[in-house]
Amino acid sequence: MKCAKRIVLFTLFAMKLVDQPAPEVKIEQGILSGKVSPDGSFFEYLGIPYATTNSSTRFKAPLPPPSWEGVFKATDETYQCPQTTLVGTLGTEDCLKINVYVPAKARKPRPVMVFIHGGTFVIGNGGKGLYGPEFLMRQDVILVTFNYRLGVLGFLCLGIKEAPGNAGLKDQIAALRWVQKNIAAFGGDPENVTIFGLSAGAVSVSILLASKSTDGLFNKAIIQSGVSTASWAINRQPLFTATLIAKELGYNTTDPKEIYDLFSKIDYKNLIAATPIKPEGKYFDFQLLNYPCVENVIEGEEAVITDLPYNLLEKFNMNVSIMFGTTSKEGLMLLAYDTEESLKERDDKYIFAPDLEFKSEEEAEYYSNVVKKVYFGEEKISFKVRDMIHQLYTHMYFEMPNLLETELVLNTTPASVYNYYFNYSGGRNFLKYINGYRNESGACHADELMYVFKGLAWPFPISKRDQVMVDRMTEMFANFAKYGDPTPSTSELPIKWEPSTKQEIKLLYIDEELKMGPIPNPKYYRLWKDIYSKYRKRDKVNDFKT
Ligand SMILES: *[C@@H]1O[C@H](CO)[C@@H](O)[C@H](O)[C@H]1NC(C)=O
Ligand SMILES: *[C@@H]1O[C@H](CO)[C@@H](O)[C@H](O)[C@H]1NC(C)=O
Ligand SMILES: *[C@@H]1O[C@H](CO)[C@@H](O)[C@H](O)[C@H]1NC(C)=O
Ligand SMILES: *[C@@H]1O[C@H](CO)[C@@H](O)[C@H](O)[C@H]1NC(C)=O
Ligand SMILES: *[C@@H]1O[C@H](CO)[C@@H](O)[C@H](O)[C@H]1NC(C)=O
Ligand SMILES: *[C@@H]1O[C@H](CO)[C@@H](O)[C@H](O)[C@H]1NC(C)=O
Repeated sequence: MKCAKRIVLFTLFAMKLVDQPAPEVKIEQGILSGKVSPDGSFFEYLGIPYATTNSSTRFKAPLPPPSWEGVFKATDETYQCPQTTLVGTLGTEDCLKINVYVPAKARKPRPVMVFIHGGTFVIGNGGKGLYGPEFLMRQDVILVTFNYRLGVLGFLCLGIKEAPGNAGLKDQIAALRWVQKNIAAFGGDPENVTIFGLSAGAVSVSILLASKSTDGLFNKAIIQSGVSTASWAINRQPLFTATLIAKELGYNTTDPKEIYDLFSKIDYKNLIAATPIKPEGKYFDFQLLNYPCVENVIEGEEAVITDLPYNLLEKFNMNVSIMFGTTSKEGLMLLAYDTEESLKERDDKYIFAPDLEFKSEEEAEYYSNVVKKVYFGEEKISFKVRDMIHQLYTHMYFEMPNLLETELVLNTTPASVYNYYFNYSGGRNFLKYINGYRNESGACHADELMYVFKGLAWPFPISKRDQVMVDRMTEMFANFAKYGDPTPSTSELPIKWEPSTKQEIKLLYIDEELKMGPIPNPKYYRLWKDIYSKYRKRDKVNDFKT
């Protein structure tokens, strides 16, 4: 019956009647109609409410989604959560919408890939601007994207019942529960769900792996350039962040209850616009951003995490296959924000983030100088040594945390773990272009994204060479989602991607050519591993009372 309907739709498409409604889907909330993609190859259901939030649930887990009578037209994906942009504050508070893309070819149940968008937990949405589905649709998987609350609305963390923290992550969990409940109606297999994300999205995936609230919601995970055990993933001073926002609004208080009272009454637009002004060079000083936090245990509240992800992942024993990856020049993105001033500031103070704890100021100074010497020799940190600066950023914030987290989960998981190192440079390395580094070799942070998604924001013709990379990336990702193995025996890819083992991390080097290799930059890796194994801070995480 459904099949016949699809054939009819194809015929309609052949008659050039585009924008046809996609087959109706019935879920518990009601009946949905979507539309057929312009080329007729997939159906899209956009902007479906998966949970509710408004001023009464601000800063807390969302409420269940609404139901409706009649047919809900799921064709509008322009929703996004409130955020500050170049053109002012955009978005609406009731922003918890999910998009489902379904290949039109009948074959089911299909594996499901759920993408969690990035944007430092303050900007972004799940829409087609960046996350166009066309490439993945050719791989016969269902793609799901969605919005979650951002900034102070998603991550105000005061350690009290009214604002326990991580509301944005609770939205993500609500979206995954929605998928479990409803994806079969779209032809998806709820037992074959892969979550994936990049940057803040990857931190989210990594936290969801560490969380006890996510059992049974997914069975594979792809973590692209960001992990929850990185120095910038968790805000250890969430009360300080909140007091800075209060100050912006004209209030001088450090009392969580007072801050909550103030933030809950103010219009969401004014609240989201009140970002504490970041001093130069503090781009990654996360206590100035609203980031995930370690929650207090609060009666009646379902926490996402109540301990540091490192401590949780150390005991990680979910049977979930994981793929970890980073790019060769992640740090270019951060270098783009540097000025001579900010570099001088880095040179003057010690280099580490507050996820390290030394016995004394002298010891911290000593290790900071060791790191500076290894990267810069006798040079001062300035644009003269720019290549070493972005290399330091690449290592410290992305590559090394990613490898160390790989080792951590390899210790306990029975499932396979894969690693990649993306070094390809082509016409779709969009962040490298946007940040003004188009002549730089290798790949900047997020540069693999446009080889997985056909973002509307990057509408340029795709070269033959880049198309090969698109096909390879999407095939490997989809194979991983289907089989837990990016290059199964049925694959025609010119490589066998071997999983890492407890004894050895093995990486697929993704470039013009695909090849397996050992850890890149072993000298730096040993340095960071040594420092983190001795000085990683594992307790006393928050600046509010527990
Ligand atoms: C918030 O949403 C809930 C559930 O839909 C509703 O019951 C409540 O009245 C709403 N509150 C406000 C302030 O809009
Ligand atoms: C803020 O409040 C504290 C404690 O009440 C007080 O010591 C401080 O002077 C106040 N700061 C400003 C700028 O009013
Ligand atoms: C882990 O999951 C895989 C695939 O779903 C299964 O074959 C295997 O038996 C599971 N292993 C354990 C230890 O549960
Ligand atoms: C890149 O290189 C080309 C050719 O050498 C040069 O014309 C262009 O200005 C360079 N662009 C940047 C952003 O450095
Ligand atoms: C990355 O690509 C650049 C430019 O092609 C090359 O010089 C470099 O060796 C590559 N890095 C690795 C680790 O393969
Ligand atoms: C996931 O989907 C793939 C492709 O349809 C299928 O081969 C595989 O058996 C499924 N895996 C599970 C665990 O259901």
